[in-house]
Amino acid sequence: MDLVVCPQAEDVALLAARRIAERLRATPSLVLGLATGRSMEPIYAELVRMHRQEGLCFAQCRSFNLDEYAGLGPDHPNAYRRYMNDHLFAQVDIAMANTQLPDGLAPDMAAEGQRYEALIREAGGIDLQLLGIGENGHVGFNEPMSAVDSRTRGIGLTPETRHQNAGMFGGDLGRMPTRAITMGIATILEARELLLVATGAAKAAALAEAIDGPVSLRHPGSALRGHPRFGVIADTDAASHLPAR
Ligand code: GLP
Repeated sequence: MDLVVCPQAEDVALLAARRIAERLRATPSLVLGLATGRSMEPIYAELVRMHRQEGLCFAQCRSFNLDEYAGLGPDHPNAYRRYMNDHLFAQVDIAMANTQLPDGLAPDMAAEGQRYEALIREAGGIDLQLLGIGENGHVGFNEPMSAVDSRTRGIGLTPETRHQNAGMFGGDLGRMPTRAITMGIATILEARELLLVATGAAKAAALAEAIDGPVSLRHPGSALRGHPRFGVIADTDAASHLPAR
């Protein structure tokens, strides 16, 4: 594991965006694994800036997002499809047809999981997977106790996750979905490179458990340590529960 601690959240975003841009310039047909959440917004803003001002080109790249809320259609304001269109896809030159998210409206989540896994395989696998971490340690929507061999599937969201993300739904838990569809831990581990980003003190405990505590199903992020190319970029607040290095 390769850990970089930056003084400020803004530096984390710039460094993460630079890492993604380097890979994309080296391999224009890169298969990107993407993530959503507040931590990702400044990263996408920087990628959009690089596209506009430095000619960073997404025209040949393909993308697969980690997860989507169950029951939300692509145009729902809180759908991750909508988030990705707004924050990245519509602002760069990626072909929309090359962007994939699991279908939150699929009637059969098991079948949708298999379809999504097949799409990833057909694309040749994911080259670089961007990841955030939930306050309860979830990765994608792999909640605590997700199996190491789990694949893309429907999953019930924990009360902690529903509270953490309710802010996006106007603070109204009643509007927050109870289920999601997410790549599994095994799906994520198959990516050729992982990049986990964590900012803010609220992530300090989850980050420490993921990268410094025992490897345990209680902390889905801890499974990532088995990956040979696992990079972590955190700000000092998110890194505050880690031992001094
Ligand atoms: C959601 C996503 C996760 C993400 C997490 C953190 O739950 N499914 O993939 O890591 O949010 O979000 P934030 O960056 O808003 O703290």
